[in-house]
Amino acid sequence: MRLDVFTLVPHAFAWLTEQRPVATVLGGELDLRLFSYRETTPLRNGQVDDEPYGGGAGMVLRVDVVAAALDAAYGGAPPARVIALTPKGRQLTQAVVEELAAEPAVALLSARFEGFDERVVEHLATDAVSIGPYVLSNGDLPAMVLVDAIARRLPGALAEGSGELESFSAELGGGLEYPHYTRPAEFRGWRVPDVLLSGDHAKIEGWRREQIR
Ligand SMILES: C[S@@+](CC[C@H](N)C(=O)[O-])C[C@H]1O[C@@H](n2cnc3c(N)ncnc32)[C@H](O)[C@@H]1O
Repeated sequence: MRLDVFTLVPHAFAWLTEQRPVATVLGGELDLRLFSYRETTPLRNGQVDDEPYGGGAGMVLRVDVVAAALDAAYGGAPPARVIALTPKGRQLTQAVVEELAAEPAVALLSARFEGFDERVVEHLATDAVSIGPYVLSNGDLPAMVLVDAIARRLPGALAEGSGELESFSAELGGGLEYPHYTRPAEFRGWRVPDVLLSGDHAKIEGWRREQIR
C-alpha cells in the first residue's frame, strides 16, 4: 500500500523508517512518502500558517497551503482516504487500523499549533482521526502511530503467526492477549505458571484461552 504523510518535519520520520516492522515492509508492501507543506506552499518565505480569524492565541495551518500540497502530490486525484489527524477526529482503534491497512493508498495530514483551518477537515480530508483523548503538540507522533500500526498489518511485516493473536484482534474477539513469560522460570520467588513448563501443548493452549480478557 502507499502511505503519504504531509508534515512540516519530514526528517522526523527517519527514526521510524529504520525500525521494524516499518523497515521490513518499506520499499515492498509499503511505499511511504513524506511531503513537506513548505515545499509547495504558495506563500512567500515558506509560510504555512496564519493568525486565526476572530482573534486568539496560536497559528492555524492554512487551507490553501494544504490544498497546494495535495495538488502537487496528486494533481487533483487524491487517494480515497485523506485523513486529517486531529484530537476532534474518530478515535483510533485496531478496527480502524485494519480498515486503513486494507486500503491501497492513504494520505495522513499532520498539523501543529492550533491545528487546521476547519475547511481542511471539511473539504480536503475524507476522515478525521484522533489517536486518543489528549492533545499533543503536533500531528507527527499521531502520524507515526498510524504508520507503525498499519505497517504491522501488511503481509510480511511480522514473523509468521505473531500478528494474528494480538490484543484487540478479531481472533481474540477484540480481547487482550494472554500473558507471556520467559527464562528464568523463577526470579525472586516469582514463578512462571507451572502449566507453561509442563510441555503439554493442549493444556498450555487451554490456559492461554482462559487468560484472554
Ligand atoms: C496542539 S494540537 C491542536 C489542538 C486543537 N487546538 C484542539 O484543541 O483540538 C496541534 C495538532 O496536533 C495534532 N494532534 C494533537 N493531538 C492529537 C490527537 N490526540 N490525535 C491526532 N492528532 C493530534 C493535530 O494535527 C492538531 O491539529
